[in-house]
Amino acid sequence: MIVLKSAREIEIIKSNGKLVAQTIELLSQNLKPGIKTKDLDKIAGEFIKRNQAKPAFLGYQGYPANICISIDDEIVHGIPGDRTIQKGQLVSLDVGVYKDGYYADGAATFVVDGVTPEAQKLVEVTEQALNIGIKKAKAGNHLGEISSAIQSHVEENGFSVVRDLVGHGIGKNMHEDPQVPNFGEKEKGPVLKPGMVLAIEPMVNVGGYKIRTKPDLWTIATEDGSLSAHFEHTIAITDNGALVLTSLK
Ligand code: MF3
Ligand code: CO
Repeated sequence: MIVLKSAREIEIIKSNGKLVAQTIELLSQNLKPGIKTKDLDKIAGEFIKRNQAKPAFLGYQGYPANICISIDDEIVHGIPGDRTIQKGQLVSLDVGVYKDGYYADGAATFVVDGVTPEAQKLVEVTEQALNIGIKKAKAGNHLGEISSAIQSHVEENGFSVVRDLVGHGIGKNMHEDPQVPNFGEKEKGPVLKPGMVLAIEPMVNVGGYKIRTKPDLWTIATEDGSLSAHFEHTIAITDNGALVLTSLK
C-alpha cells in the first residue's frame, strides 16, 4: 500500500532531509586520508543527535552503527569500524535520520584525492543517473519511467545497475511501498501521484551487476570486485514535478 503524504508531512520530511544533507556535507569535509571510518560514524551520530534527531540506521534489524560507509567494491551497508581512509578510495556515505515521526534517507559517493579517471566517471554517471531519474518522478508517469531512465543512462556509459537492491517509499517507516528499482521498463509500476515520497538510489558497478554479502553479513559488495558508487535522494512528487527533500536548501 502506497501512503500519500500531506503538505505538512512533506515539510517535516524536508526538514529531516536537510539534516541528512548537512550530515553528508559535514562528513565529506572530514573525509581525508588517515581518518577511521568509526570516527566519521561518531561525527555523524553526534551531529544528528545535537539536532534533536535519531540516526535512523542504528539498531535497524540489528544494524550496529549510525551510518553506512562503503568503500571501493562495497556497494552499500558497509559498517564503520577500524579501517582508515586511504588516498584514492571511493567512499559512499549513506545517512538516515528520524525526527518528529518521519524518516529521510540520502547517500553520496566521494573520491578521496588522486582517483583514477574510471572511478571519477563512475561517480559522475551515478549522480547523473539519480538526477535523470528524479526528472522522471512526475505525477502521471509510471514509476518504471524512473527505473528505465536510470538504467539507460548507466548502461549507455558502459556500467551496470545493481538489480538485487532497490529504492523505496519512505515516511513514517524507513522502507515503505513502492519499491523503486534502478532498472526496468517504462510502462511498469504504479502511476506516480502527488504526495508520494520516494528514496531513489541508483547503485552502479563498473563491472557486472551481481552482488555478494561480506562475512560481516551486512556489507554488500560487487561479486567481481569492481568499483561501485551510490547516490540517493528522498524526493516528493508534487503537482509540479519532484521536490528534492534531502537538500541543503
Ligand atoms: N539507506 C539504506 C536503505 O535505503 C538503509 C540502510 S540499512 C541499515 O535501505 F541497516 F543500515 F540501516
Ligand atoms: Co534508502
